[in-house]
Amino acid sequence: MQRQSLIIDCDPGVDDAVGLLLAFGSSELDLLAVTTVAGNVSLERTTRNARILRQLAGRTNVPVFAGAQRPLRRPPGEAAEFHGAEGLGVLETFEPDLPVAEGTAAQAIIEAVMNRPEGAVALAIMGPMTNLALALRAEPRMAERLGPVVVMGGARSEGGNITASAEFNIWADPDAAAEVFASGCRVTVLGLDVTHQVRATQARIAAIAAQAGTCARTAASLLRFSQDVERRIVGWEWAPLHDPCTVAWLLKPEFFRAVPCRIEVETESDLTRGHTAVEFRVDPASARHHWVVEADADAVFALIAERLERLP
Ligand code: RIB
Ligand code: CA
Repeated sequence: MQRQSLIIDCDPGVDDAVGLLLAFGSSELDLLAVTTVAGNVSLERTTRNARILRQLAGRTNVPVFAGAQRPLRRPPGEAAEFHGAEGLGVLETFEPDLPVAEGTAAQAIIEAVMNRPEGAVALAIMGPMTNLALALRAEPRMAERLGPVVVMGGARSEGGNITASAEFNIWADPDAAAEVFASGCRVTVLGLDVTHQVRATQARIAAIAAQAGTCARTAASLLRFSQDVERRIVGWEWAPLHDPCTVAWLLKPEFFRAVPCRIEVETESDLTRGHTAVEFRVDPASARHHWVVEADADAVFALIAERLERLP
C-alpha cells in the first residue's frame, strides 16, 4: 500500500479512541491531522480526548483541530452512557501537554485537501458528519478533490442503535449526512450492518491486552468498558467494534466487502430522523457510494493487536 495521507474526524469516544490508536500505529498512514466534533460527549471533551490519545501514542506531531460544537440544525445529542461522562470509559483523563491547533476543523480539512494533488487526502469520519458538511459548504470544489472518504454510520439491515431506525452518527446530524451524500463526494460507509459482525470478544480483547505497551493496555481497557456497557444496556455479550473499522478498511480493504449503492437520509421526521435509505439497485458504474456488507472480524482484530504493539 502506498503511504496514504489521511485526516481522521472523530468524537472520542471509546471506539474512536481505539480507531485513533490503530491509525497512530500504522506507518502506511500519513496522519495530517485529527479533527474533532461534538457527538458522544461535548466538543471540549472530544477535543481533549483526542489530544490525550495523541500524547499516549507519542504522536505529538499530529495537530488536533476542534470542529463543530453542535449539529447543523438539530440540538446536540450525546451518548455518554456508552462512553462514560468524560468520553474515555474508565480512563483517567488529564490536560494534555500540547494545546489544540489554531483554526477550525473545516478550515484544516479544506487546506489539506485543496493544497495537495487531487485524490491525495483520505478522510475517515468516526462521528457526526458536521465538519465535512461545513467544509463542503465553504469549498464545494473539495467534493471532487477528496481521496477516499470512509464513514462509520448508518444502518440498513440491522436497524438503529439510538432509535429503532437510525444509527447514532447519522441521527446526531442527519442534515450534515444528507448534504455530504448529495455533495458529489464518493463515500464508503461502514454502518451497523458490518460493525455488528466485528465483535470484541474476550479472546480478541485478551490478544490486544497481551501486547506490552500502555496504548495496547489502554485499548483493552476501553474495549472492556464497552463490553460492560453493552451487556448492561443492550444485553449483548460482546460489543460491536464501530469506528476502528474505518481505519482497518483504509489499511486492508480486502478484509471487507462493499456494494455500490445510493444513500439518502431522512432529515425531517423526529421518529425516523437519521434513517439511511440504502438502495443497491443502482448502476455500479455510476454509483457514487459503497455500503460495506461483510468483514473478516478475526483479521480486523489481528491487525489492531499487531499495530498497537508498535505503540508505546
Ligand atoms: O453508532 C456508533 C457510532 O456512534 C460510533 O462512532 C460511536 O463512537 C458513536 O459515535
Ligand atoms: Ca464515534
